[in-house]
Amino acid sequence: MAKLRLSSINKAFGGVDAVKDFNLTVNDGEFLVLLGPSGSGKTTVLRMVAGLETPTTGEIFIDDVLVNGKLPKERDVAMVFQNYALYPHLSAYDNISMPLKSKKLSAEEIDKRIKETAEVLQIGHVLTRKPGQLSGGEQQRVAVARAVVRSPKVFLFDEPLSNLDAKLRVTARGFLKRLQKDLKVTTVYVTHDQAEAMTMADRMVVMNHGVLQQISEPDRVYREPANMFVASFVGSPPINLVPGAIVKADGSAKFVAKGNIFEVPVSSDAPQSEEVYLGVRPEDVVVHAKPPKGGWTARVYLQEPMGSVQFLTLDVNGTKIVSQTQPNLSVSLNQTVGFSIQHEGVHVFDAKDGRRMD
Ligand SMILES: Nc1ncnc2c1ncn2[C@@H]1O[C@H](COP(=O)(O)OP(=O)(O)OP(=O)(O)O)[C@@H](O)[C@H]1O
Ligand SMILES: [Mg+2]
Repeated sequence: MAKLRLSSINKAFGGVDAVKDFNLTVNDGEFLVLLGPSGSGKTTVLRMVAGLETPTTGEIFIDDVLVNGKLPKERDVAMVFQNYALYPHLSAYDNISMPLKSKKLSAEEIDKRIKETAEVLQIGHVLTRKPGQLSGGEQQRVAVARAVVRSPKVFLFDEPLSNLDAKLRVTARGFLKRLQKDLKVTTVYVTHDQAEAMTMADRMVVMNHGVLQQISEPDRVYREPANMFVASFVGSPPINLVPGAIVKADGSAKFVAKGNIFEVPVSSDAPQSEEVYLGVRPEDVVVHAKPPKGGWTARVYLQEPMGSVQFLTLDVNGTKIVSQTQPNLSVSLNQTVGFSIQHEGVHVFDAKDGRRMD
């Protein structure tokens, strides 16, 4: 059980600023996810917490104890690396048992813990094999098992599921989330997969170019993104970003899309502006197979059935807008349809700096 705090952390590699003025508190027992594209500084943050990298400036505290000068093994954190880092000459079993040996547990206790963990991670049948005789996904699960068999103060996971096939990945993320809730070990989990971040996190941090963009509960990040980067990185298919202007009259505001292809009321907090983007989630774009009289119309450009839902890309006078509809909405390619926008969920972003304006 531990609280983790990073205060004004900067990390430069030569001329590259990998992490910039990074502040973060992870609460005791919390599952915190760092989400961001490749090169955004996620691994660097984890490595600094683990003690494998030294911050250029700033302080790291575990349970209010400054750990900057401490060696990795003195910090009591368990890290699962992006490239697993297993000992090649040891069997999977011996790899997993390594961190337990230094804990002075009985052989029976060690064996019991390993077998239980191996069972839930579905690697019980490969425990006698060496890493070279395991698939990438199996190696990854051995690395996860090695971290979770001991009870460290902090778990650090760096994309631990990236090598698993799609089905196993979904099972494994559920397993890890449940396990973390049972063990209540403070966890920082790195991923560039927004679905993984949304489903696993108590709170998530969105990073870009080494800078923290937003920290909040997943639902809040999805519904109230701090800026256009966050809005477009979280959500699949991505949010529609439509260029246009805000026109104010009588204390209310409306968004008018470029080319006058549609307009929609927006929050009166949005200031008058010529250059904005409207963010509309696909589920807020409603398609009417029969265009209602006087409504906005579009052409069906692409149909993507997904089983439980259907994604339709609409061509609205040259602008593409994606809608998430019922699977049984019967339309055909190039058909003219009507559409409307549920305005409760829309947001306005400044075209210059991407900041949310409403
Ligand atoms: N040892 C290093 N020397 C020089 N530059 C580095 C070093 N480690 C990382 N960087 C740079 O720092 C930035 C952040 O890298 P980092 O590995 O933290 O990104 P990441 O978010 O983990 O990306 P990915 O999703 O690809 O793993 C990148 O621009 C990277 O090239
Ligand atoms: Mg990385």
